Amino acid sequence: MSATSTPWALRGEVLRWGGDPFHTPPEQAIRFETDGAVVIQDGVIQAVGPAETTLAAYPGVPVTRCGDKLILPGFVDCHTHYPQTEIIASYGAQLLDWLNTYTFPEELRFADPAHAHRIAGRFLDTLARHGTTSASVYCTVHPESVEALFEAAAARNLRLAAGKMMMDRHAPEGLTDTPQTGYEHSKALLERWHGQNRLAYAISPRFAPTSTQDQLEAAGALWAEHPGALMQTHISENHKEIAWVADLFPEARDYLDVYQRAGLTGPGANFGHAIHLSDRECAALRETGAGVSHCPTSNLFIGSGLCDVHGLRAEGIPVGLATDVGGGSSFSMLTTMKAAYEIAQLRGVSLHPAQAYHLATQGSAQVMRMADKIGDLAPGLEADITILDPDATPILAARTRRADSISDLLFALMILGDDRAVWRTYSGGALIHDRDKADTLRATQLEEHRSSS
Ligand code: GUN
Ligand code: ZN
Repeated sequence: MSATSTPWALRGEVLRWGGDPFHTPPEQAIRFETDGAVVIQDGVIQAVGPAETTLAAYPGVPVTRCGDKLILPGFVDCHTHYPQTEIIASYGAQLLDWLNTYTFPEELRFADPAHAHRIAGRFLDTLARHGTTSASVYCTVHPESVEALFEAAAARNLRLAAGKMMMDRHAPEGLTDTPQTGYEHSKALLERWHGQNRLAYAISPRFAPTSTQDQLEAAGALWAEHPGALMQTHISENHKEIAWVADLFPEARDYLDVYQRAGLTGPGANFGHAIHLSDRECAALRETGAGVSHCPTSNLFIGSGLCDVHGLRAEGIPVGLATDVGGGSSFSMLTTMKAAYEIAQLRGVSLHPAQAYHLATQGSAQVMRMADKIGDLAPGLEADITILDPDATPILAARTRRADSISDLLFALMILGDDRAVWRTYSGGALIHDRDKADTLRATQLEEHRSSS
């Protein structure tokens, strides 16, 4: 595509990646400019670097000055459920009871396309408000729920992956498909949406307990026909779930083997949770090139366990960071980084802030096989950018004023920050959230909510 629009630039503190903080000393993985610039044209980053030299190559370029705010790659949430938006913060249940009590009844509502459209719009606005520019999203079993999300994402020009949940057993009537319809509906959605705008299709069998062997094989066949598509599912989240899978699939060596036998692992496979894996499963994830979504607020909130992120990364397995709303208790990737830090502490290791932000940006992009497009600030990448405000709240201002390094500043922001710390969000170079103008937007949403409920 030839360039058509005028270039423009952001100027402020700029953070980008110079390496993988799990495999190089974390401080060295961060490339930081205290006075940096990012030049953008046609939604794509043209140049990044020290402001003076970078801007000198673009005489007269309009510059948005961000002062001491922090310009960084947009957050990428590599596992979340938009139909669970309004059951976030549901009390008192662990995974299987939580699904039956809260999740399945809520997902039944998405048979109504009007409801799906309403929640899809609210969900994407909420992502933008939290600085999240991309996500890998589960819809419900209803194809209409996928249409609603993709339409809303296309209208906002977001880079998003999503798919229809495939479930042919152990779920209420009204939430199940069959191996045949699950395959056909997923295929039709994939062929319609994959590669449209900035959208990708993720084949989405929910998890082994809600699919028969036939359905998992149908999902595997569909992926084999469309290897450019993604595949997402849940694995090894909760002990009761794991025991149930062993009962349902006695011939499988372990949980991952259920998916492996159906052709559901490989590059572009995104396994959510992956907490209680055996050595064989870790080795097989690495050998097949699959990735893992770490969902720390969810793992704490529904009491699932402590994922060994450092161990997975040491094995060479790509890992991204994910909210897993509504099992997860926050839309904020900053809050999610905080939970990841706390989980690592409970495992006796410290998650360095460079590692946490890497998981939340480039790590998630790698899991979604999109690291050539998003997850960093570099020429040729799409201009998906989040700008954080170290002065967002009185305590943040007091604490960040004392920060003696970029790592310390990043750490304070991830421990104390939330959507208030997100000053602006840009998707493909377009402003999709401006905190200081969002009061008007919030009023509009409240109005809409009152009239719809
Ligand atoms: N396992 C199967 N479905 C789900 C879900 O919706 N959320 C979580 N956290 N785990 C699951
Ligand atoms: Zn999930």
